[in-house]
Amino acid sequence: MGLGPQWQARDGWFEQHPAELERQAILHSRQQQSLASEASAAAQPPQQAVAAQASPVPSYSNQQPEHSAPLAAALHLPSDSARISVTPSPNVEEALLGWEQLEETVANCQRCQLCNTRTQTVFARGNPQARWMLIGEAPGEHEDRQGEPFVGKAGQLLDNMLAAAGLDRDRDVYIANVLKCRPPGNRNPAPEEILACQTYLQQQIRHVQPTLILALGRFAVQTLLQTEQSIGRLRGQLHQYQGIPLIATYHPAYLLRNLPDKAKAWQDMVLAKQHFARLSQPA
Ligand code: URA
Repeated sequence: MGLGPQWQARDGWFEQHPAELERQAILHSRQQQSLASEASAAAQPPQQAVAAQASPVPSYSNQQPEHSAPLAAALHLPSDSARISVTPSPNVEEALLGWEQLEETVANCQRCQLCNTRTQTVFARGNPQARWMLIGEAPGEHEDRQGEPFVGKAGQLLDNMLAAAGLDRDRDVYIANVLKCRPPGNRNPAPEEILACQTYLQQQIRHVQPTLILALGRFAVQTLLQTEQSIGRLRGQLHQYQGIPLIATYHPAYLLRNLPDKAKAWQDMVLAKQHFARLSQPA
């Protein structure tokens, strides 16, 4: 593609003090309860199936050696005994906001420090009734400016991959991020930011009820699957997020820096399409 990198790793981002993470988890749980009590019941939009597009599958023979990307998940503490979970406790009854109310809540969100530096929140793009849901990491500079996810160089690559897979970016997919606000300088999301934002993504998923989730990059994958395992280990198999089939793959921004891994990302897309076709067949 010849497109340069957009993201920079921030060393030590996961080395958060356990007590602080625990405090954030408790705070977040309270915020969810307060959100639930404020919420009014809202009708869910009708679901409409979008048929899978038949796509020619290019043959990729340039297999690359497995890339090792070990990374502690933002959402876990170093020891098993002190782990926190990004999934809200089943005891916390979270009311589903209507689309408009959810979007407005996100637009006015001040749950974490990112509200001080964002230009605007970035909610989603695509078709809310799509059968595919793609989940990325966080808005970058372009997304922060334009208010839409994946409009920068990583987005161009994603659009190309979708087109190659026979998926229309506006009709066939709904695209959202783990974070709705840009981390300054495109640094990695902090654990407390992911926790603060998690309910928004959960609500988006509950509204869309996708047939298949394609999780892009380690933050989306590790957040949704509640794991610290690398994408290299998680790709190539079907996972589940709260009963919804999920395929893990590399983030387009990572692929811009690691061009050989595009072959693997394409394999993931092919796998996702195969599962989607199977899942879309009448029982
Ligand atoms: N990277 C992401 O994960 N999301 C965007 O919206 C843009 C770049």
